Amino acid sequence: MKERQDLTGKHIVLGLSGGVACYKAAELTRELTKAGATVQVVMTEGAEAFITPVTMQALSGRPVYTSQWDARPDNNMAHIQLSREADAILIAPASADFIARLVQGRADELLSLLCLARPIERVPLLVAPAMNREMWAHPATQRNVAQLQADGATVLGPAAGDQACGEVGDGRMLEPAELRDELIAFFQPKRLAGRRLLITAGPTFEAIDPVRGITNHSSGKMGFAIARAAQEAGAEVTLVAGPVHLPTPRHVRRIDVQSAQQMYDVVLPAAARHEVFIATAAVADWRPAQMNAQKIKKDGKKQAPVFELTENPDILAAVAALPQPPYCVGFAAESEHLLQHAREKLLRKKVPLIVGNLGPATFGRDDNTLVLVDVDGHRELPTADKLTLARALVRDLAERLKTSA
Ligand code: C5P
Repeated sequence: MKERQDLTGKHIVLGLSGGVACYKAAELTRELTKAGATVQVVMTEGAEAFITPVTMQALSGRPVYTSQWDARPDNNMAHIQLSREADAILIAPASADFIARLVQGRADELLSLLCLARPIERVPLLVAPAMNREMWAHPATQRNVAQLQADGATVLGPAAGDQACGEVGDGRMLEPAELRDELIAFFQPKRLAGRRLLITAGPTFEAIDPVRGITNHSSGKMGFAIARAAQEAGAEVTLVAGPVHLPTPRHVRRIDVQSAQQMYDVVLPAAARHEVFIATAAVADWRPAQMNAQKIKKDGKKQAPVFELTENPDILAAVAALPQPPYCVGFAAESEHLLQHAREKLLRKKVPLIVGNLGPATFGRDDNTLVLVDVDGHRELPTADKLTLARALVRDLAERLKTSA
């Protein structure tokens, strides 16, 4: 499948200040350009001690700027030209010294000069700190970071972990892919700002004995994509996940469960605190009536065991039946007669929206086709990768929430 190009049309000024994390700026440049952005690199003298403009020019495909006296711009004002062209300025890595300089409004070298000269309402400044943990924790840095945010900058990270100096703690720059995703999220319209969403995803696993169980082919990808899209749109997201092998989308609170009953026990008390509940999980309808405490063994008589099944609670129907339910969205994964089954589900579960997809055609895949079914009719979201569909669903949901409020 074609790689997503979420930064197409975006021009990013990538500023490097001095620090070991400059080595990650090379990879970051690749990530941003692969995502469709054009990248103009600007480096401080300190950054040049860690990585060369030659490398950064080769990766960005553009000559690097390192000096405010650079005579290339016609008007000889690199700081004006570079800052006016940008859709965003990203400083990665941002050293403790560079953050202090931003806070003071210093303008004696090109990078801080162009940050000061940027049209503040139109060109956002994002800053990815990278420094030793003691430098990060120092009251002076913390004071500067708070002031930088008060001045309108967005601070990305830092992460905790191993540091180049051998110490372990807060102050690592975010990884290039994380910074790319932060930038992508930054540009998404905040259609769900301040909304709280609860999402279930993945299969459930219903134990037969300590080593075996009943499960299904759901990969969790659609639910995880919706969690990411909702978070990018400004929502506060709780994701209740069955057993899946997927990374948690950034800034999403994740609770892992195994069985339908565990999912029910987490979701029901949480539902009232959320404005929207999206049930993408492929919850097992039945579970073994009893779980064997020990592994069931062959008895030598060729007698296969017989299992009695009992019905699982219907999580979506239970949430929809709460006295003040959140706005409930169900999923229907069917192998045939999708619209008809989706309509039946709408009525049976008493929810305002069912999202239909053809289960076997989508399980585990990266793309999907959705059909949104409500009392008034249905609308198709054409085949696309799951994140694109999730963003389209978020857009649709935001409109529904406006009218249901
Ligand atoms: O018809 P079915 O019960 O499979 O409907 C699927 C929808 O109901 C999905 O949104 C699924 O997450 C939800 N569901 C649930 N709890 C169950 C079964 C399904 O929340 N026990």
